[in-house]
Amino acid sequence: MRLDRFLCELNIGSRNQVKALIRQGTVTVTGVPATSPETKVDPFRDEIAFRGEKLHYRKFVYYMLNKPEGVVSASRDDRERTVVSLLGRDAREDIFPAGRLDKDVTGFLLLTNDGELAHRLLSPKRHVDKTYLAVLEHGLSEEDIHRLESGLDIGEERPTLPCKVRVLEEKQGKHAILLTLHEGKFHQVKRMLQAVDNQVVRLKRIAFGGLQLDPLLEPGEYRELTDRELEILKAGSTGCQAAEEEGTESGESV
Ligand code: URA
Repeated sequence: MRLDRFLCELNIGSRNQVKALIRQGTVTVTGVPATSPETKVDPFRDEIAFRGEKLHYRKFVYYMLNKPEGVVSASRDDRERTVVSLLGRDAREDIFPAGRLDKDVTGFLLLTNDGELAHRLLSPKRHVDKTYLAVLEHGLSEEDIHRLESGLDIGEERPTLPCKVRVLEEKQGKHAILLTLHEGKFHQVKRMLQAVDNQVVRLKRIAFGGLQLDPLLEPGEYRELTDRELEILKAGSTGCQAAEEEGTESGESV
């Protein structure tokens, strides 16, 4: 790999900036200052340092973000703040959100540069679980729950797939549910609730692909997935089970 590309991928700067940095002698390859941006490096074997600090290359990166409200699920946008911009120095050029949450929706969003994994997680064939905490305008009847769980018409070619609804205890007059879906249609949760004459007042994704959102992450914060979490995600285990086993659901505040 070319040295300038290596530095760009690690988000040291834009292509032009890293070229200038190399020419200024700020980058060393196995202890020797590099002079040309075209220098070929082996990112896994060569010891590359920038201003004396050793750089660690990873082909793929995986971040769990607690998406805040008001940010769009995109890598780049001319007008709006994007989820990738929340990564600051970790915002490598090749990172993108695996899936999307609406601008007003909060919670678990995976940010990665692993296109293959993202593709598998988002494929409609794989039915990866997603669990949402939804605060509703009013409570659900038994009939509403039955309709939601067995699949209903939201104006698509086919009805929604069966899903799981769990009604949470009413707190301060707020009606909230946990909804685990095995698909991800556009505005799906909002449309499903509209189909039973209700409205989503607030929506947060608390689990995705078998992983629960880390409760220590404040909105806008992120962290790398652990090796174990990555294994779970890759195995495509089912979200509701994992979330329930680890007690996320009972711990979530409305
Ligand atoms: N359902 C929605 O309505 N919006 C989202 O962002 C995700 C699921």
